[in-house]
Amino acid sequence: MSDFLYRRGRLYCEGVAVERIAASVGTPVYVYSRAVMERNFRRYDRAFRGCPHTICYSVKANSSLALLSVLAGLGAGFDIVSGGELHRALAAGGDPGRLVFSGVGKTAAEMEAALRAGILLFNAESSGELSLLARLARKAGRKAPAALRVNPDVSAGAHPYISTGLRQHKFGIDISRAEALYLKAARARWLQMAGVSCHIGSQILALEPFLEALEKLLDLAERLRRHGLAIRYLDLGGGLGVSHHSGEAGPDIGEYGRRLRRILDSASGLRYHLLLEPGRSIVGEAGILLARVLYTKRGATKRFIIVDAAMNDLLRPALYGSYHEVRPAANLRRRQVEADVVGPICESGDFLAQDRRLPEVRPGELLAVFTTGAYGAALGSNYNSRLRPPEVLVEGDRFRIIRERESYDDLVRLERL
Ligand code: LLP
Repeated sequence: MSDFLYRRGRLYCEGVAVERIAASVGTPVYVYSRAVMERNFRRYDRAFRGCPHTICYSVKANSSLALLSVLAGLGAGFDIVSGGELHRALAAGGDPGRLVFSGVGKTAAEMEAALRAGILLFNAESSGELSLLARLARKAGRKAPAALRVNPDVSAGAHPYISTGLRQHKFGIDISRAEALYLKAARARWLQMAGVSCHIGSQILALEPFLEALEKLLDLAERLRRHGLAIRYLDLGGGLGVSHHSGEAGPDIGEYGRRLRRILDSASGLRYHLLLEPGRSIVGEAGILLARVLYTKRGATKRFIIVDAAMNDLLRPALYGSYHEVRPAANLRRRQVEADVVGPICESGDFLAQDRRLPEVRPGELLAVFTTGAYGAALGSNYNSRLRPPEVLVEGDRFRIIRERESYDDLVRLERL
């Protein structure tokens, strides 16, 4: 949260008091710090200096065009999982030669579009997908660069919904079966088996699972090379988790780089080109959600702070029970009380925070929900026919709207009576 600081009792994002943004754009609103996002991207890039690599920002974490274009300007590649994300990456000026296409259920139309664009790598997840890719490549008259996403059976200890690298998960191909499939695919004229990929999960705070996964990928890549396959890319999937508690540092990107480098250096790994697909660790701490207090009330056993943001704006607490810090945008010297921060949606699961000690806030006051730049706006919906909130990018002491608040016309635009 380094660029979200209180100065003279007011919360700033870089050089802008967030109250100013709320006053001008309204609430709820997502606010992103360009500086934080750029710093995180550069940390990854620097951590692998001297080792061939591409940092492919994972578009699903936050797919805002403006953020993608900032990252493209820094030399980022992109990890995409749908035709929509391909469209966004290209619309934001992303280099097709730095796109990797992941996902367990790519459609023919999506793969055709990616082939036409000339992407770097398809991470295939089944033999059926590989055969379809080969057929589409032949039709398009260009070889498809592909890797198999293998399932390295590494336990990463994240929330069950976002841990993906165990044998029972739907993702990837069991690593013990991968070799045979590679050898078969290597004979297909229209496939170029160029990499080995994995993704073990998200919000992983320890480094060890990544190191273990890299060792397993390297081992497989070396075996494939000995069979004569020209494996060039090692794709380690998503990046590090982030801390959700202020004053507590998340895992260190520099240290992550050093430990992975050590493995690559000692195992002839430097002849490979490393691909990383971080999302959360680039944009997570770069964003806050601002909401205004509508009412406060006391239930039989609890106090409630009812705000104008809800689970349609930020689904993570409801879906994963995730913790996001909530603090008033003005440093209030008031009595602290324990309360739930809840939205207006007609579900008991509609909360942003539960059982928190907060200063006794009043209607009209502004709250900030921290570390919501990743999987915040991206997981948003129109549930309860609520309008999606606007998104604002702060650059130094200026800010600009990068997505307008939806209107009621937008809400029904695609519908017919
Ligand atoms: N690559 C692949 C193939 C992925 O499936 C993911 C995330 C990433 C990269 C990016 O991972 P990251 O660096 O952000 O950890 N909605 C959940 C997170 C779902 C993650 C899905 N895959 C949440 O809000 O926590």
